[in-house]
Amino acid sequence: MSAPTISLPLGTIPADIRNAQDYAALAPHFMQPSHYAYISGGSGYGQSVAANVRAFEQWAIYPRLLRDVSHGHTRITLAGEQHAHPLFLAPVAFHKLAHADGEIDTARAADATGTCMIASTQSSVVLEETVAQKSWFQLYLLPRREDTLHLLRRAEAAGYRAIVLTVDAPIQVANRRALAAQFQMPADCINVNLRDYDTTPRFAGNGPGESRFFQGAMRAAPSWDDIRWVMSETSLPVWVKGVLHPDDAVALRDAGVAGIVVSNHGGRSLDGAPAGLDVLPAVRAAVGKDFPVMYDGGILSGSDAFKALALGADAVAIGRLQLYALSVAGALGVAHMLKLLREELEICMAMAGCATTADINSGALLRQARRSDA
Ligand code: FNR
Ligand code: LAC
Repeated sequence: MSAPTISLPLGTIPADIRNAQDYAALAPHFMQPSHYAYISGGSGYGQSVAANVRAFEQWAIYPRLLRDVSHGHTRITLAGEQHAHPLFLAPVAFHKLAHADGEIDTARAADATGTCMIASTQSSVVLEETVAQKSWFQLYLLPRREDTLHLLRRAEAAGYRAIVLTVDAPIQVANRRALAAQFQMPADCINVNLRDYDTTPRFAGNGPGESRFFQGAMRAAPSWDDIRWVMSETSLPVWVKGVLHPDDAVALRDAGVAGIVVSNHGGRSLDGAPAGLDVLPAVRAAVGKDFPVMYDGGILSGSDAFKALALGADAVAIGRLQLYALSVAGALGVAHMLKLLREELEICMAMAGCATTADINSGALLRQARRSDA
């Protein structure tokens, strides 16, 4: 395994970073190649990762002239909670792959920038140590309900303000890029939140005539009954992550969840799933204008965030880019990336004549040929 090629003295960020996206270009020089492959890769042949990138290319943003935006700001109220800006940190597993201090540093950056970090169940630092002023907890259902409940109680006791139940990854699909790079989870990167739980799958699906998927993994997959159960067990708002079909969105709204995250899991779950951005307008139309919708997938710039807000999201979450910034400069890198991203969003809003996020709608965008179609 070759070593990363660059490391910086503590407390420094590279001078030539001008935009948030620059962290994505630098990250390969700061990470083990196999770690980078694991993080950047998607499932299967990466069709859905590519779709996320293409989805943004088909939209241009109209500059609007002569408007007064001097009262402008990025504040939002989401499901009754105030946020300084609509940029969230998506739940991402194993931050220690990117930086020795892992989620501790990411949480510090979230605190410093007034950002809501959604901490992953599959964190490499225990959830009790990564709670920032504003943090939500992403929950994966564990094989045994009593363990899921224990994890939920720990998140509540630690002060997390909402639960994000991820339901779109019932089957672990191979990440071909990680396999090709011979990625192995390093010894210091442990799913520490789950240390005391029995995580052996309850169903193998390897009996005569059985499928590993239908009779195996899918028998442990989240169900409507589980959604109702989680909501009945906690007074925290429960969001559901991984929604793409408008009918699922409506059913979740009707089941009483606090909000949904439109996401194809960064292209890491069903390969061939559409880009979340492409289905976002239909989801928004289906659930109505007031239901809380977050978007994630492929966001690398403030203009990407703007486009997602224009197409129906109330807020957006940043996945890989946080790990890229973390790998380059730890907490400082993540805080800097978030500052740049927020400024890029402000520039976009101001020049598109939108003083607040409520002013951003699809009229701000022009559909154009996708670059890759040209
Ligand atoms: C993820 N994602 C994810 N989602 C989740 O609900 N729980 C998790 O533990 C993880 N872990 C995870 C690890 C890594 C390395 C990646 C790249 C992604 C998905 C994540 O929350 C989000 O949906 C995507 O990352 C968004 O896409 P971008 O911003 O990475 O393009
Ligand atoms: C992933 C799992 C951890 O995307 O959600 O890698």
